[in-house]
This record gives sequence, C-alpha cells and structure tokens, in this order.
Amino acid sequence: MAAALTLLLIGSLLQGALCGEFRASIPQKMEVLSGSCVTIPCSFNITAEHKSNLDNTCKAVWIKDPKTVVFASTFSNPNPKNGELIGNLTKKDCTTTLNNITTDYNKSYFIFRVECNNKLIYSFNKQKLCISVNADPPSPTLTPSTLKVKEGDSVSLSCSAPAPCLSHPPTLTWTPDLGGSQETLQDNQDKTKVKISNVTFTASHLHHRKEISCTAVYNKQDGGPASSVSTSLTADISYSPQHITVSVNPSGPVLEGRNVSLTCSSTANPAVRNYTWYRADGGQETFIGIGAVLSLNVSKKDSSFFCKAENDIGVGRSNLSQIDVQCMYYISKVLCFIKQAYFKRLI
Ligand SMILES: *[C@@H]1O[C@H](CO)[C@@H](O)[C@H](O)[C@H]1NC(C)=O
Ligand SMILES: *[C@@H]1O[C@H](CO)[C@@H](O)[C@H](O)[C@H]1NC(C)=O
Ligand SMILES: *[C@@H]1O[C@H](CO)[C@@H](O)[C@H](O)[C@H]1NC(C)=O
Ligand SMILES: *[C@@H]1O[C@H](CO)[C@@H](O)[C@H](O)[C@H]1NC(C)=O
Ligand SMILES: *[C@@H]1O[C@H](CO)[C@@H](O)[C@H](O)[C@H]1NC(C)=O
Ligand SMILES: *[C@@H]1O[C@H](CO)[C@@H](O)[C@H](O)[C@H]1NC(C)=O
Ligand SMILES: *[C@@H]1O[C@H](CO)[C@@H](O)[C@H](O)[C@H]1NC(C)=O
Ligand SMILES: *[C@@H]1O[C@H](CO)[C@@H](O)[C@H](O)[C@H]1NC(C)=O
Ligand SMILES: *[C@@H]1O[C@H](CO)[C@@H](O)[C@H](O)[C@H]1NC(C)=O
Repeated sequence: MAAALTLLLIGSLLQGALCGEFRASIPQKMEVLSGSCVTIPCSFNITAEHKSNLDNTCKAVWIKDPKTVVFASTFSNPNPKNGELIGNLTKKDCTTTLNNITTDYNKSYFIFRVECNNKLIYSFNKQKLCISVNADPPSPTLTPSTLKVKEGDSVSLSCSAPAPCLSHPPTLTWTPDLGGSQETLQDNQDKTKVKISNVTFTASHLHHRKEISCTAVYNKQDGGPASSVSTSLTADISYSPQHITVSVNPSGPVLEGRNVSLTCSSTANPAVRNYTWYRADGGQETFIGIGAVLSLNVSKKDSSFFCKAENDIGVGRSNLSQIDVQCMYYISKVLCFIKQAYFKRLI
C-alpha cells in the first residue's frame, strides 16, 4: 500500500516535471539606446498537450503592454522590417531583435506571444520586459577602477560595455594603445550580452600619471550620429629613480681650490629618499657626501663625479660628470702643471 502510494507520488511528480507549463524566460529590464535596436533573449515552455502544436505555422509576436503589436514574424517572412526573429520557435527559442527603438518605447512593458495556426495561441503575460530608452549609452566599466602598481608588474585591465543590440555591438578602444587587446561578447546571467575588452601590459614609468581610458562607440541603426562614451583611470606607477642628472655650478672650467656646487636631480615615485655622491678615480668609487646639493672644494683628482638616487623601489646612478679643473696662479702652479701633464699622458 505504502509502496503503491510512493509510486503514485513519484509518478505524479514526474508527470508534473514532464508536463511542462506555459512560462517564458526573458530579462526583466533592458536599457536601450534610442535609434538602435534591442535583441531580447527569450525562451519558453509550453504544456505537454501543446507539444505537437508547436510547428512551423507558429509565429512570434511582441506586444507593447497592453495591446500594441510591435513585431510579428510569419513563416514566410520571419524578418519583417521592424525586427527579426533570431531564435527557432520549434526549439522554444523566441530570441528577437526589435529594430529602430524610439523614445515612444521608453519605460514600456513588452510581452511575448506565440501564435500558431492551431489551438496554440498564448501570451506569456506573467513575464514582462521593461525597456528603458536612453538618449546616450551608459559609460563602460573599467576593472579594476584604480591602478597603483610597481614598474615591471604585469597589469590586466578589463573594460565592459552592454551590447543590447546584437547587430550593432559597441566597439571598444583603449587610449593610449596598450596593444594586444582581446574582445569577447559574453552573456550576463539574464542572457543579455556584454562586450568585454581585456588588455595586458607591463607597467612602465612612462605610464605614471597618464590617463588610461576605454571608449565605447555605439553606431545607431537609424543613421543618426554614433554615440561615444568613455571611462578612464589615472595610473600610479611606482618606479626607481630615472633620468638622474648632475648639474655643476659654475659650469665650465674652475680653478683648483674653488668651490663648485653639484646638484643631483631625478624623477622617481615615490620621491627620492637620499642622494649620495661619489668620486670616480681610476675605476674606484669613493663616497664623498650626501644630499641633493653638494658643495665641493675641487682639486685635480676631483674632476670626475656621479651621484646615486635612492627611493623605496630601488637605486639608480647618473652618468659620469666631468669638471674641467684649471691651475691656480701661484706657487702650486708648477705642481699643478706637472700633475696635469701626468694626467694627460695617462689619457
Ligand atoms: C522549460 O523546462 C525545462 C525542463 O523542465 C527547464 O529546464 C527550463 O528552465 C524551462 N524553461 C523556462 C523558460 O521555463
Ligand atoms: C528549427 O528547428 C527545427 C527542429 O530542429 C528544424 O527542423 C528547422 O529547420 C529549424 N528552422 C530554422 C529556420 O532553422
Ligand atoms: C525615459 O524615461 C525616463 C524616466 O521617466 C527619463 O528619465 C528618460 O529621460 C526617458 N528617456 C528619454 C530618451 O526620453
Ligand atoms: C577578461 O578579464 C576578466 C577579468 O579579469 C576575466 O574574468 C575574463 O575571463 C577575461 N576574458 C578574456 C577573454 O580574457
Ligand atoms: C528607422 O527609422 C527611421 C526614421 O523613422 C527610418 O528612416 C529608418 O529606415 C528606420 N530603420 C530601420 C532599420 O527600420
Ligand atoms: C648617460 O649616457 C648615455 C650614453 O651616452 C646616454 O644615452 C644617456 O642619455 C645618459 N643619461 C643621462 C641621464 O643623461
Ligand atoms: C679649498 O681648500 C684649500 C686647501 O684646503 C683652501 O686653501 C681653500 O681656501 C679652499 N677654498 C674654499 C673656497 O673653501
Ligand atoms: C639612504 O637610504 C637608505 C634607505 O633608508 C639607507 O639604507 C641608506 O643608508 C641611506 N644612505 C645614506 C647615505 O644616508
Ligand atoms: C666650500 O666647500 C666646503 C665644503 O667642501 C664648505 O665647508 C665651505 O663653506 C665652502 N665655502 C664656500 C665659500 O662656499
């Protein structure tokens, strides 16, 4: 008895699942650009008794609530001017493109209806799609929305823009051209489409404080001007000191025993923490001081310098900077000439 009841229960459960019911699956809302089209992802189920009625006499009808027919496919003409049935009704796919959406459609509800040359005529009015018509497309979305990385890091950015009209998807471009972007058209959970462009590049100090933007261009169906919208971020790239240069004041020849001031400058992010100075004599590096500015009483052996700049990321050095040290007009002059002659012979 209990077994029979269980069987009965299972049987009716199975029947319930197999029987099917009238139900359409469409998005609850879609944002559309005026003058463009909208491709509505749509699938449906019917009761089992109507299974054989779903044949090639059936047409897809879209109704703007309460009763304006905005699109009706026919077997002889599945693509009337105002739209296109993309799906195959016999496969319960009612995906449809509605062309040339005007602001008359703004904030309207749309219902799918199947109409066959038999008993199967049904409006799926429990599921309604609300269409919002916008004069401008939405801005694309950048992921991540901020960029703070180290020079040399590999960076991946993703830009996504809704693609409500299948025949006129947006084109996505990156500025500056970061090279090698990959585009895909992906499904959202409600089966509406989104265009995604991914780009991967190596962060360089050249990108620091530069704007990176993704622009979506939507061409319209009605021949109106294309709409272009963009989203951008400002790159913050930390990098070790670059372009390290030494300037000498006074420039030009200096008399031995006079002070010169040496200034080390560079670009770095974060800022340089300390500058250090070195004398380069015969392949040897001798530490001579710290600070961006160094005051030095020059002698013949001090004619070649460089500086190092250091920040949290790393350290870099300048090229060698030569000072033309001239001899003084007094006793040491002779000594100086001898040193100079010796120095010249070395070169
Ligand atoms: C139609 O029925 C199948 C099987 O029960 C189910 O997987 C599918 O989600 C249903 N589709 C809709 C639109 O209800
Ligand atoms: C729709 O699907 C049916 C059944 O799979 C197939 O026979 C028919 O050719 C398809 N129609 C179109 C227009 O692709
Ligand atoms: C559509 O309706 C919304 C809300 O009523 C309004 O904000 C929007 O401007 C309308 N769109 C157009 C293109 O008129
Ligand atoms: C693009 O990037 C997103 C986020 O990182 C990722 O989920 C997606 O799979 C990527 N797509 C392609 C085609 O690389
Ligand atoms: C859209 O509408 C405009 C003006 O109403 C018309 O000129 C154009 O041909 C239409 N385009 C389509 C694809 O129906
Ligand atoms: C250092 O010297 C090299 C070779 O002469 C030159 O290409 C480079 O620009 C110099 N660096 C700086 C910071 O002046
Ligand atoms: C540089 O050093 C020499 C020797 O120590 C000294 O005589 C001279 O006054 C110094 N010059 C300056 C500008 O300090
Ligand atoms: C420069 O800063 C680094 C890091 O704090 C430190 O290790 C180094 O000793 C400093 N150099 C000088 C000359 O102060
Ligand atoms: C010359 O440089 C030394 C350090 O090398 C400094 O102590 C002195 O004050 C400087 N003299 C002048 C006149 O700038």
